[in-house]
Amino acid sequence: MCGIVGYSGHRPAVALVVEALHRLEYRGYDSAGVACVQQGSLCVSKAQGKLTQLEQLLSQEAPSTATTAMGHTRWATHGAPAVRNAHPHLSNDKSLALVHNGIIENYLEIKNELLAKGYSFYSDTDTEVLVNLIQECHKQEPDIEKAFAMALNKAHGAYAVCLMDKDQPDVFYAARMSAPLILGVGTGENFVASDIPAFLPYTRKVVFLEDGEMVRATSSSYEVRKIADLSHVDVSVQTIEWDVQAAQKSGYRHFMLKEIFEQPKVIQDAMSGRISASKDEILLPELDALPVPGRLTIVACGTSSHAGLWGRHLLESVAGIGVQVEIASEYRYKETLIFQPGEMVLVISQSGETADTLAALRRARECGATVLGLCNVVGSSIAREAHSVLYTQAGPEISVASTKAMCSQMLLLTLMALYWGQRKGILSSEKCAEYVQSLLSLPEILENSLHDMHDTAKRLARKYAQAKNFFYLGRGHCFSLALEGALKLKELSYIHAEGYASGEMKHGPIALIDSSFPTFAICLNDALLPKVKSNVVEVQARQGHVIALTNKGVDLAVDDAWIIPEVPGVLAAYVVLPALQLFSYEVADYLGKDVDQPRNLAKSVTVE
Ligand code: M6R
Repeated sequence: MCGIVGYSGHRPAVALVVEALHRLEYRGYDSAGVACVQQGSLCVSKAQGKLTQLEQLLSQEAPSTATTAMGHTRWATHGAPAVRNAHPHLSNDKSLALVHNGIIENYLEIKNELLAKGYSFYSDTDTEVLVNLIQECHKQEPDIEKAFAMALNKAHGAYAVCLMDKDQPDVFYAARMSAPLILGVGTGENFVASDIPAFLPYTRKVVFLEDGEMVRATSSSYEVRKIADLSHVDVSVQTIEWDVQAAQKSGYRHFMLKEIFEQPKVIQDAMSGRISASKDEILLPELDALPVPGRLTIVACGTSSHAGLWGRHLLESVAGIGVQVEIASEYRYKETLIFQPGEMVLVISQSGETADTLAALRRARECGATVLGLCNVVGSSIAREAHSVLYTQAGPEISVASTKAMCSQMLLLTLMALYWGQRKGILSSEKCAEYVQSLLSLPEILENSLHDMHDTAKRLARKYAQAKNFFYLGRGHCFSLALEGALKLKELSYIHAEGYASGEMKHGPIALIDSSFPTFAICLNDALLPKVKSNVVEVQARQGHVIALTNKGVDLAVDDAWIIPEVPGVLAAYVVLPALQLFSYEVADYLGKDVDQPRNLAKSVTVE
């Protein structure tokens, strides 16, 4: 969703802010803008479309000499993507400029009060309402920091905001409430941003602002206070371990491709420090103090929920834990949450900021449940609000389409199933050692097969890219992968795709099959193969064309049999997943789509 950058230092600030916004492009946006103070006035430049449009505009203006500035990439919520709705927004008296990520829920009420006081509005945004509310508060409260806090205390909803005042050209203010905002602490310069890559070339020292906190920063100082009463907050500065390289394409055509090819390393990193030296025990110290759940409710959105659906199989079969998987946007509004004794909630989120998942976590906690978080982003809201958190250690995922994050989530779910199975005494050390051996062999299997898979994906993409619809079929643990394959295809290539449990086809969807409606069937060499084969034959009987993702030696008469290495049991999913990802990637790239930033999508969905 929207990206925010604020900077105060010794460098040309507007250029730096635009450059930093580029590193937040992955979040998804449809317009962009910057603000700084020049000769006592706030200068705002905004453009619809990509940052290149803004850069073109800035190149026609006199170069800015400001060393403090802020910028924004907007993902439309209130009002269409248009210059008038792009941020920064100015207050009526042009003394204040504001950028904002999130939604002010009571903005209409505030807007009506301000209209009655004679304010005018030039955009459809809640942000313009908030900046004018700050102006109004400033009339009563001469200290702008206090006026800012006063206005924020009147606003309800989720926000991360950055404010500049024309009378303090070397200062920026920022605040957060349920939307990400991180302070970057440099030498002679300070930053604020929606995500760390924005300022990573300049500093690795960060302060994770908490909900309800605000900061006043200059080039040489920063102070964090509580929005509620402006009391001082003692913050701790943390050092980020990963570097800029991890957030760059490193020679790949797209971030997505790079992230798919990173999966062997992701598997290794996710296991790092979590397997005993004897390789027959799983170490998850984050879970040691918690009881083994009697039942588990997994709550997540999108790809993370598919990882949860996949993990259910292992948690049930290896650890004997009954699992239900819920979509966060539904779960958070359920009238009744029924918890059985010993039940635990596991929320899964790559970003750790997904609004629906965060709300579900809070609801479950309010109802007395113990909540575990499975997150990639260290220090994210979900990571901080869960009772305990497991990090997937996948490194920054920049492409909007989630790939390596799902792989790492699956790995942690596998480890959790083994760990709990051992704690319950139902998984022997010998059996655990077998699983560990299989897991340890995965990186090499993938390293040796990803390039071939990529070639096959390319070839098949050219053959099938003109299809208007696609079915993805799978049974057992492969059903969740079919859902994920379909999600990837639709979000990247805009081809309509549905994932189905193979056996469910005959209960309605099969009516859609004809020679123009291909099916991507996951037909692994496992116990369910005869059943999946029957479903494939049913599709073919309706003239449907079939790509089958299968193993060597499987006897299948289909249009395209895509042979992948055979891995026994549910761990086969680690080989199926990149094949599905590569196929969608190649179809989208062949069709000329914006692979890393598909239309209408945002990486971190911080609105509900
Ligand atoms: O950051 P999260 O894992 O909470 O994000 C959940 C979904 O928004 C995300 O997985 C989304 O479905 C991706 N675009 C899928 O590629």
